[in-house]
Amino acid sequence: MMYEGSKRIDFRIPNKARSHLVGRVVGIICSQRQHLQDWFEGDSIDNYHHLSDTLALPIGILFKIEIANDCRGEKLATPALEHFLKLCKEDGCSQVLLNADVTLGCPFDLVAWYERHGFRKIGPSNLGTFMLYAYDEGQ
Ligand SMILES: CC(C)(COP(=O)(O)OP(=O)(O)OC[C@H]1O[C@@H](n2cnc3c(N)ncnc32)[C@H](O)[C@@H]1OP(=O)(O)O)[C@@H](O)C(=O)NCCC(=O)NCCS
Repeated sequence: MMYEGSKRIDFRIPNKARSHLVGRVVGIICSQRQHLQDWFEGDSIDNYHHLSDTLALPIGILFKIEIANDCRGEKLATPALEHFLKLCKEDGCSQVLLNADVTLGCPFDLVAWYERHGFRKIGPSNLGTFMLYAYDEGQ
């Protein structure tokens, strides 16, 4: 999917102890309603209509946070998620959206993990749960 006009965020997760890539974060600073709509398209689009008054542009969208299999459970994802939130805030976002994808086979409760990082559930998606982080909610 092309998101021309929205700023792409794509960074590697560093780990001094290892030479190989340990993880990656990909998302966008979404500044166009069409891109937001495209992101929801085909996946519980009805939820989007309920949310259209709640969501404010520009909005950060986290597409993917992934840690290599042999590096999981070492708390590498937490600083990476926090860095993503910081970048979105610096770019003027008041909110960050994600789809907690339970089909990726996470061995723990992904939704609860995001909740511990200040995200709240906003509705079901075909892959899991849509979740929203709002900077002004005191996190
Ligand atoms: C989700 C993911 C990025 C987390 O990366 P990570 O560096 O292993 O995460 P952490 O080490 O910070 O652990 C995350 C939480 O899960 C728990 N956890 C980690 N590994 C676990 C395991 N094997 N069993 C049970 N709980 C586990 C930790 O206790 C931690 O909770 P806490 O931070 O509140 O204490 C990683 O598992 C992954 O790449 N999964 C596949 C891709 C994916 O599902 N991405 C999310 C898509 S929305």
